[in-house]
Amino acid sequence: MQRCIALALKGAGHAAPNPMVGAVLVHEGVIIGEGYHHAFGGPHAEVNCVNSVPPELQDLIPRSVMYVSLEPCAHFGKTPPCADLVVAQQIPEVVIGCVDAFSKVAGKGIEKLREAGIKVTVGVLEAECRKLNRRFFTFHEQQRPYVVLKWAQSADGYMAPPGREPVRISNPYADRLVHRWRTEEAGIMVGTQTALLDNPRLTARLWPGKSPIRIMLDLDRKVPGSHHLHDGTVRTLILTADEINRDQPLVPQVLAQLHRENILSVIVEGGAVLLQQFISGRHWDEARVITGQAALGGGLPAPVLKHALMQESNYIAGDRIDTFVPDTV
Ligand SMILES: NC(=O)c1ccc[n+]([C@@H]2O[C@H](COP(=O)([O-])OP(=O)(O)OC[C@H]3O[C@@H](n4cnc5c(N)ncnc54)[C@H](OP(=O)(O)O)[C@@H]3O)[C@@H](O)[C@H]2O)c1
Repeated sequence: MQRCIALALKGAGHAAPNPMVGAVLVHEGVIIGEGYHHAFGGPHAEVNCVNSVPPELQDLIPRSVMYVSLEPCAHFGKTPPCADLVVAQQIPEVVIGCVDAFSKVAGKGIEKLREAGIKVTVGVLEAECRKLNRRFFTFHEQQRPYVVLKWAQSADGYMAPPGREPVRISNPYADRLVHRWRTEEAGIMVGTQTALLDNPRLTARLWPGKSPIRIMLDLDRKVPGSHHLHDGTVRTLILTADEINRDQPLVPQVLAQLHRENILSVIVEGGAVLLQQFISGRHWDEARVITGQAALGGGLPAPVLKHALMQESNYIAGDRIDTFVPDTV
């Protein structure tokens, strides 16, 4: 199952809005085939796994065990049901990491396998398999995207200098890491003042992979057409007063809109006002804070995280990267 998870991760940034899935076929303790879901719309992990078995080993398939990190699908989507493939290949035993959350599958794939007389074990490395697809599970179980908050702060805790002129806080290595994070999420969001003052592109230029869909809050359409977020290079959702009711809390409306747009996850990159709204409403799943080495001596104070537990702390060329998760107590 650990191998399944490692394989699944190769689809990061490409499988969404499908989950990342890995599968291996094992005959008497030896892997004879393995596969993963490479990209949305393409063959699922089970199909790639079966197809990877070399011709001279194919007669071993009906005497092998399939390990798969997520329940095989039972419905016709962009590809035929994987549960049918497992039955057709006469695979006698399937070990599953976790049950699917997608309503068209949830439990139905397992049912189909059991009905065909296949021995099915569910829940091996379940927590790890659910963590692998935490964006997918949050989206389907809570009907909202998975939310990652990200900001950079100076050594003395400011996000911008007193005059708000754009300054570099993180070093070029941390910037690359941030661009990698961008490739891993479906959407990226900023507030109106950040869009106006920083004129960001919000693309993943420093790391190979897809740039996320850009989401800009601009209730009064203040951000000029000459700004990068209007350049049309990447799909951009502009949330104006047509989509957002100012008299209602902002974040739940944003999350509902992104759910309607089938955006599985969003990285919120500032500014302080917008981030603090996500924090106060407890509408976040991870926070990644980069603390640079230089002090600003004043300016825009960084958001204050509440109900948070530090999960990890690392250094990248002198900048500290802290990751927090919500304290669920
Ligand atoms: N260090 C970093 O990681 C980082 C990242 C991003 C930005 N920044 C810096 O942060 C500064 C901008 O941040 P900021 O905190 O001033 O602004 P912001 O969070 O980018 O945008 C907040 C603005 O969005 C609009 N808004 C309307 N309704 C809102 C609501 N319910 N919740 C939140 N926003 C709403 C308001 O704009 P209007 O009042 O204009 O309608 C509000 O002032 C810039 O100086 C930028 O350089 C730093």
